[in-house]
Amino acid sequence: MNLSGKVALITGASSGIGEGVAKALALKGVKLGLAARRTDKLQLVLTEIQKQGGEACIIEMDVTDKESVTEGVAKLLKQFGSIDILVNNAGIMPVSDIDTFKIDEWEKMVDVNIKGVLNVTSSVLPELIKQKSGHIINLSSIAGRKLFKGLSVYCGTKFFVAAFSDIMRMEIGKKHNIRVTSIQPGAVTTNLYDQISDTELRAGMENLRDQMTFLSPNDIADSMIYVMEAPDHVDVSELFILPTDQEW
Ligand SMILES: NC(=O)c1ccc[n+]([C@@H]2O[C@H](COP(=O)([O-])OP(=O)(O)OC[C@H]3O[C@@H](n4cnc5c(N)ncnc54)[C@H](OP(=O)(O)O)[C@@H]3O)[C@@H](O)[C@H]2O)c1
Repeated sequence: MNLSGKVALITGASSGIGEGVAKALALKGVKLGLAARRTDKLQLVLTEIQKQGGEACIIEMDVTDKESVTEGVAKLLKQFGSIDILVNNAGIMPVSDIDTFKIDEWEKMVDVNIKGVLNVTSSVLPELIKQKSGHIINLSSIAGRKLFKGLSVYCGTKFFVAAFSDIMRMEIGKKHNIRVTSIQPGAVTTNLYDQISDTELRAGMENLRDQMTFLSPNDIADSMIYVMEAPDHVDVSELFILPTDQEW
């Protein structure tokens, strides 16, 4: 698919992978809805995109709040008239051992990583079905195909994303001409670990940086562009991308 002139909604565009993907897609001529809660950060991303000649708008959106999502998608449609690509990227990872009972954090992960994906998908999919084309890209993780102690709920949410993606592909691929991809990165340099309140687990995650050269958000953007630019009859349903020196 030629990306120039297409319209994409990226959730979690205020930092990390979402920000990197937004900037890379803007360079390809994609018109972007930059969605997240921190509009000050989105403004910085927008300014950089515009400086490079790209087109985008800021969408204040909390993916856990269906009304906020509905309003955000309506704003995008008003701005650009259609939508072709959805990147369900917003996610959090406040991991902890089960027997520490950080139940609030479990619920937040379920709300953002699972319900958020459902909220945004259910708002965008009717538009893609109407136009009989589109591409939904969901951020799963290596934690959506392998299990790690300490990551129980996070793994559960990312296994959900992988399962939901592939079943969606089966149900809407042929029927509505919509491609679905789940991307499963290993370690990427972002601020994702900042929310880990368990000091031991956080230190463990931070120490990973000494063991390998992490992927960059731009590496993920490159892989996403490969997936999006594949010919229309090709659906890369899963993409597992790791640092070369990640041994597990
Ligand atoms: N970093 C890695 O190693 C790695 C590996 C595999 C998969 N992933 C996945 O990649 C995705 C992006 O993570 P990242 O690493 O780029 O982390 P990040 O830099 O912390 O970005 C997370 C993004 O999610 C947004 N977000 C969080 N809660 C939200 C909410 N309720 N509503 C709307 N947006 C929300 C944040 O924006 P606001 O706070 O402004 O709302 C932020 O833009 C996540 O799904 C993560 O699970 C990351």
